[in-house]
Order: sequence, then structure tokens, then C-alpha cells
Amino acid sequence: MKKIYLLFLILPSILIFQSCNNTSSNAKATKNDLNQDANIERKVDSVLALMNLNEKIGQMVQYAASWDVTGPASSEGNKFKEEKLKKGEVGSMLNVTSVKAVREAQKLVMDNSRLKIPLIFGYDVIHGYETIFPIPLGESASWDLEIIRKSAEVAAIETSAAGVQWTFAPMVDVSRDARWGRIMEGAGEDPYLSSKIGVARINGFQGDDLSKNNTIAACAKHFAGYGFGEAGRDYNTVNIGEHELHNAVLPPFKAAAEAGVATFMNSFNEIDGIPATASKKLQRDLLKGEWAWNGFVVSDWGSIAEMIAHGYAKDKKHAAELALNAGSDMDMESYAYEAELEKLLEENKVKLSDIDDAVKRILRVKFQLGLFDDPYKYCDEEREKNEIYTKEHLEIARDVAKKSIVLLKNDTVKTKKSALLPLSKSVKSIAVIGPLADDKDTPLGNWRGKGKYNSAVSLLEGVKAAAGDDTKIYYEKGIELTSKTVAPGENQFLHLMEFNTTDRSGISAAVNAAKKADIVLLAIGENAFQTGEGRSQTKIGFAGLQQELLEAVYAVNKNVVIVLMNGRPMDITWAAENVPTILECWHLGSQSGFAIADVLFGDYNPSGKLPVSFPYNVGQEPLYYNQKSTGRPMSTQVTYSGYNDAPKVALYPFGHGLSYTNFSYGNVSLDKAEMAKDGEIQVSVNVTNNGTRDGEEVVQLYIRDLVGSLTRPIKELKGFEKIMLKAGESKVINFTIDTETLQFYTANNKWEVEPGDFNVWIGGSSTTKNMAEFVVN
Ligand code: BGC
Repeated sequence: MKKIYLLFLILPSILIFQSCNNTSSNAKATKNDLNQDANIERKVDSVLALMNLNEKIGQMVQYAASWDVTGPASSEGNKFKEEKLKKGEVGSMLNVTSVKAVREAQKLVMDNSRLKIPLIFGYDVIHGYETIFPIPLGESASWDLEIIRKSAEVAAIETSAAGVQWTFAPMVDVSRDARWGRIMEGAGEDPYLSSKIGVARINGFQGDDLSKNNTIAACAKHFAGYGFGEAGRDYNTVNIGEHELHNAVLPPFKAAAEAGVATFMNSFNEIDGIPATASKKLQRDLLKGEWAWNGFVVSDWGSIAEMIAHGYAKDKKHAAELALNAGSDMDMESYAYEAELEKLLEENKVKLSDIDDAVKRILRVKFQLGLFDDPYKYCDEEREKNEIYTKEHLEIARDVAKKSIVLLKNDTVKTKKSALLPLSKSVKSIAVIGPLADDKDTPLGNWRGKGKYNSAVSLLEGVKAAAGDDTKIYYEKGIELTSKTVAPGENQFLHLMEFNTTDRSGISAAVNAAKKADIVLLAIGENAFQTGEGRSQTKIGFAGLQQELLEAVYAVNKNVVIVLMNGRPMDITWAAENVPTILECWHLGSQSGFAIADVLFGDYNPSGKLPVSFPYNVGQEPLYYNQKSTGRPMSTQVTYSGYNDAPKVALYPFGHGLSYTNFSYGNVSLDKAEMAKDGEIQVSVNVTNNGTRDGEEVVQLYIRDLVGSLTRPIKELKGFEKIMLKAGESKVINFTIDTETLQFYTANNKWEVEPGDFNVWIGGSSTTKNMAEFVVN
């Protein structure tokens, strides 16, 4: 069924060759790329020339399939959508998955519409399609850009094999607030790390050629400021200064645009009184203007119409006007563009040139994907059968999962004269306890795509598979975490969680199991649906009866390893003060239990580092290492900037993570002590593995600009390298400090390097004291 739809050939006379000023947002585009881009521009223009106004507006409309809603469900029925599809008045659909469903929808357009402009199909593939990878926050803890790229590549293979060619990922929202449920979806609190990881994910999804049938278009979201909602409340108001916006929020978006991400999604929130969806400054001036990015912007779900509730638009018509004028190209589920743009045009409230620009952007991506050559190119039943949830993909998921685990604490236990981890395979007995210990669903996390209910490998299964034959394993759940309000497997995305706070009947059995065992593995943390969209919380400790279970078990056996499964930084202060070992295991995806066992038994030496700070308690939020000094930085006296009842620093800081071996750092050495504003300095450090095991370390470089035209953060990550050192081995690691490292969005509203004194640190976490100084002239 491979038909060629070379629409642009039918009217050669109206082919308008238009060489494009901003053909490629990727600065490194080759001559071939540019030719290809020019070719696409020509085709885009030729299609545009054929279109009437309804068809143009139609391209700017995206409908959801009604069987998998992720927002307030629309009242429009399927029939209405079908008619619009047949008329060629829909540009895109979301949540249509499977070759059969995609083919059906595409066919409605191809068989009935005048111009046969193919639909583009989008879906939230956030951490895997059916083979589920760690939640993005967890995966970010690997600081391993290659495996992060690889996991997105696998997700793209599976997504495209199911007919879909566009994911609404990566979310590149920097977030500093553990209360925000969607912190699980990003790369944490640091703009530099978020930029690198965002680009790795985009490269994984899009590959080097979008037109291949196993790569998909990515989407940088949510533009912008969504991670900065007041009080960590989802969709909430954002108040952020212009400079902080540029320095802390926008860098990952700029990096995404430069990496050639095909699409952007705008955002639900307002910033300083203007909803992001209506922000001309962000979308038209910055993204499409200054950054010269040529993809298209899709609204967030209903975010155009939500401007009415914001009190910014008086009705849908007004909302459509504001959104289009600001540069929102595609309307996801607001039904505002299709209803209002024509009238707005007649009344001269919007410009035809802006509609044309939006349509061209959408067509461009469709051409880049090759949809015009073959609208069914992603509809291959063989691929769908053979390329989803394969053995190979599961192996990669296990690899990514084990590299995402962070060893937070592993103290020497007096009675054993050693740390509890790694476990010996000949350990006599292990008690595997906790509500998440044999949970096969929670490890799949919140945005689990088509991950099947209960399909993850549980901790218990992983431990059983890894332990020696002679090891006795006792399993006790102890408590239920939640009180069931939904049937197992029912889509829990929209259901409120309820926790078990009364049923303690299983605790005594758990205590008995703990008494009998050499070691306790206690799996506690958060249910999959405690984090994700709409899952903000004011409490970030152990919900339900988990703390009670922890204390009861610890009272009878001190050899407790907490296996923490969660989607946000939690308040684990009691555990950190009492329990010897804590292993941060996030929601690790399909292979969770195997990956955790790899680390527990030392088959893999943990190498993850936190991409977010863990607070002592929720009152410290938002908490982030790259904070400002304030005029009163010390916290030991009353009238300084701290708290009277808690430290002001993190319990476990950004960049922290232990290994089964020890690394030491030599002094930071510079090739010169001064540099010109546009010059560079080479900085290096000798890192040694002092232990008896091989291991990986994330070598982190931080700087501080001591005095600026604006106050500067007390430390900023500006480089990192993940290295493998054999036991006893040393390596010199080099970094270059240059304009890119030192520039920031200054008081002049420009990215500049300001002369002055700088500090540079290199070490194994953001608290490193290994520092040198240099001067920029
Ligand atoms: C979310 C987006 C998502 C969209 C489509 C919205 O509620 O904010 O991130 O891509 O739904 O599912």
C-alpha cells in the first residue's frame, strides 16, 4: 500500500522557490542539509499555494482520540472529528496509537480530502513506549548522555513501529521544587545538565535523519517556566525575573532549538501576568525570531481556551487571537482556531501571513518526516509485531536502569565492620519487605506509554533471580501503601490517590521476617501515580503507614537497606539519620528488579549522581544548589539567611552519589591564572580510584563569578565527564573554560562574559571544596 503522494508535482507552475534565511536552526548544517532544506521549503510553498483558508486553519488543529484523554475531556464527539478529517481540516491527532488506528485515521484524510495532506500523529512517549525506561528524572541521575540518547532511540523505534511519528518529549523544564509532581519528567534543577540531557534525548528520538521510518519528531516542552509554579502547585502562577528566566529556565530550550528539535510545546502557566500561550515575547520574538528556529509550536492541552479561566481572554475568540498573534501554531484540543480564526481574519485581528507562517511550519515538519512521500510509512504491521518490547530493548532498559540508581548512603555497620552493600551472594538470609517490594506496576512510573499493567520486574523477583541457591528469602509486604479506589490496571492517571492509614495487620509478620534475616531490603517510597501531571504534594515524606513500618522493622534489625522508589526528592531525614544504607531507585521501568539486584549484589557498581537536591524537610522547598548568596549568607546566627529549625543546605545535595569504591581528587590545576574575555583556560584534575573495585565517577566542574552586573549563583555546573577507573587507576581529566562557560544574561540584557574574579571547582558533587581561582580581563 505504498502510494506516492507528491502533491507538489501537480502544479509545477506555482512552485515558488524560496531560499530560506532560517532554513536550519542547526548551526552546523552541511551543504547537503541546506540543499535538502531548500528543497523542502520549495515543496512547502507549493502546497501552501494550493490551500484554501479552511484547509490552512485545519492544519493548525489537533484532535485527541477520545479513548485516552490526558486533560479535561472535550465535549465534541467522534463523528464531528471524522467529518473534519474527511474534509482535510485537521492537521494532527494525538493519542491514536497502533498501526491499525493510525492507518484508519490517515485513510479518512487520504481517501476523502481535496489536498490529501497527511496527518501527523503525536503521543506522550516520555520514558518509553512499551519497553519502559526509568522516569526521566531517574535516568538523568545516570549523567550518561549516551545511554540517555539510546533510551530515546529505542522509544523512537517502538513508537514509530506503532504508527506514531511525534512524541511530546523531552520535557526540559528546570525544576527546583520537590512538591511539583512533574519534577519526575525532567532532568532536575540545573540548566546546564538539563540542556545536555534534553539534547541527548532529542538526538535519540530524531536520529540523524527525521525521514527514516524509525525516527520520530521530538517536542521541547513546556515553553516556558512551567517548572517554576508558585509553591510547587501544578499549572500555577509563575513569577520570575527577566534575567532569571534567561539564565535558569531558557537555556535548555535554546539548546533544544539549536539541536534542531522539530517542535515546541507552550505552557499552561502565566509568567508575570501573561499566559505562556499568549507570550509573543517568548514564541515569536525569541524562539522564532532571535533563535531563528523553524519548527512549529503546539499549544498544551486546551491551553488556548484556558486563557479564559486565567482571566486573560474574554472568550474563545479572544483566546484564539492572542494565541495566534503570539506565535502558537497548533491548537491542541481547545477548538479555538477552527471556530474563530476565519472571523478574526475578516475583522483584521489576525494576519493571513501569520496563519501562512504557522501552516508552513507544520507542513515543513511533515515533509521532514517524509509523510508526503508516504503517509503510511509508519504503518508497518511487521515492524509493529517485531520491534516493540523486544529482548534487545529490555536489555537496554536494564542497562539504563542500573546506571540510574544512586547510592545515597552506605555506612559501615559496627557489627559487620563493613557496609551492608554490596551483598554477598552467599548471604544466608534476606528479608524483602515493604509495599513496593513485590509491586510490578509502580516501577513503570507515571507516564508509562503503552507499558502493560504489572509488567515490571519487581524487586523480589530481581533478588530471587540474583541471590545464591542457599540464600533464604523471606517476603512480607507489611502494609498496603494505597487503599484501592481503582481496579488494578485501570488508567490511574486521572484518579486521586488514597493511602492506607489504618490497616496495620501485616506489620507483625514483617517484623518477624526482619528478625529472622541477616539483612532487610525495605522497598518504600511513592506509588507510580504520586508523581506526574497534577500530582503536586505538600508532604514529601513516606505516605500512609510506611514510616511506621520502617521504624518497626528497624527496631528489630539494624541491617536495613532502604530501596527507595519514587519520582521526586523526598524527605527521608529520619531514614538518613538512622538506617545505614539507602539506595535511590526511582521508578526504574520494565527491568527495575533486575537492575536493582545488579547493584545490590555488586554485579554493577553504582555510579548515579543526584540531579536534584534532597531536602531535610519540605519547608526548604524550592531548594537548589545553584542559589544566590544573599547579603547574609551564613546560617549559624539568628539574623542570617537560614532556618531556625533546619539546615539551609540539602540533606543529599545535587551531584551526590556514592560508589562501592572511593575516588579522590588532586588539586585543580589551571594552565594560566588569567584569560581574556574571549580566550580560554585549560583546567585539569587528577582523579584516582583508591578502592579495590573498578568504578565509574562523574567528574563535575563548577564555577562562580564572584562579582557581576547581576548577582550570580554561588556555584554553577559548567561541565562534567563520566569516567571509568579500574581499581587503583588514576586519570587526568581536562576541561576547557571559555566564553560559553562564563557568559550569562547580564544587566545589559545580553549574553556576555564580564571581566573579574572567578572560582572553579572540580569534584564528585556540588559540595566539593576542591577549588582554584582565575581572573578574566
Ligand atoms: C501535558 C503535556 C502533554 C499533553 C498531551 C498535557 O496535559 O501538560 O505535557 O504532552 O497533555 O497529552
